[in-house]
Amino acid sequence: MNTVHVTASRSYDVLIGSGLLSTVGQRAAAMGNVKKVCIVSESTVWPLYGASVRKSLSDAGLETCEFIFPAGEKSKNGQTFLSLLNFLAENRLTRADLILALGGGVVGDLAGFAAASFLRGIPFIQVPTTLLAAVDSSVGGKTAIDLPAGKNLAGAFYQPSLVLCDIDTLNTLPAETFRDGCAEVIKYCILYDPALFAHLLERGLSFDREAVITRCVELKRDVVAQDEFDTGARMRLNLGHTVGHGIEAQSNFEISHGQAVAAGMAIVTRAGYALGICEQETRDAVLSVLRVFGLPVACKYRAEDLYRSALSDKKRSGGTVNLIVPRRIGDCVIRPTPVDEMQSFIQAGL
Ligand code: NAD
Ligand code: GLY
Repeated sequence: MNTVHVTASRSYDVLIGSGLLSTVGQRAAAMGNVKKVCIVSESTVWPLYGASVRKSLSDAGLETCEFIFPAGEKSKNGQTFLSLLNFLAENRLTRADLILALGGGVVGDLAGFAAASFLRGIPFIQVPTTLLAAVDSSVGGKTAIDLPAGKNLAGAFYQPSLVLCDIDTLNTLPAETFRDGCAEVIKYCILYDPALFAHLLERGLSFDREAVITRCVELKRDVVAQDEFDTGARMRLNLGHTVGHGIEAQSNFEISHGQAVAAGMAIVTRAGYALGICEQETRDAVLSVLRVFGLPVACKYRAEDLYRSALSDKKRSGGTVNLIVPRRIGDCVIRPTPVDEMQSFIQAGL
């Protein structure tokens, strides 16, 4: 097992390894005066891992209750959020008790926002069960729900008290969902880590999961320590996401987040090459690693349509969008791009 310590407004450990689910009870019980744990999960993950998490908690002498909602992004909304708050109140959780998020990014974001809001904040544990959640959403304290006007429009920065990543849970992921997480792993190595990039190119989908997840979490820890509230360095984690959100929206969310981010990274890299920001070697390296993982490097949408959809991205600030563009593997620049230049930037990368 590896441990990464995150230092932020609340500091905590991220534990990464095999066989960790059965230890969650003793770890939760050691967290203070906890009596009750509300497990928040969804309809796909709960039947797979719910019993073992619940047993571990009750073996450690903790009372449990469960809030299970239908799997999928469509559930990450205000209605599920309010139902969860009411459930916590009906079950009389106190600020000494705990929420445990068991699932992917949807569960983590929703449960985390409920933890931030209920009684003005109760502690929560993230137990990520997707690769995306393991390397990204469970660490760093961004929590959110979607509103009819767009994704993640209501939320809070609220750090968990512990993240427990049992890599065995990744064995039941559908191949497509695992690949989606790989797009985020690739994002980290393009941003920060040529050695990790080389490992991924060499090993493809059979990369060393414990080592790679640990490295990604270390990289994210460093970003969060510098810029917890996303006003500077953390923006880089948006590599591929602005154009990616445009692709997701244009496809009516038929194209998954990971696939859209992969194509988004390819598009900004090609645009960067066209504008002289990176060399051909960097462009080709980015395209190669995406291909090794079977991720898309292009999309069928027009620059004009991607531009319109991408503009609703919340990372826009005034008349400028901060696009993240690779300069070299391990080194990306933040390029403030006036809104009226975005379409031609995207066009250069298609
Ligand atoms: P998800 O939670 O919907 O999980 C993807 C799919 O995998 C779902 O169908 C789920 O039921 C299934 N699943 C989960 N774990 C499984 C397992 N172990 N075995 C089998 N099936 C399993 O989606 P995700 O990709 O994990 O996360 C996407 C969400 O994360 C989005 O809502 C996005 O906005 C959010 N996100 C948040 C942050 C952040 O910093 N908070 C960062 C990135 C993404
Ligand atoms: N997923 C991007 C971030 O945590 O900032």
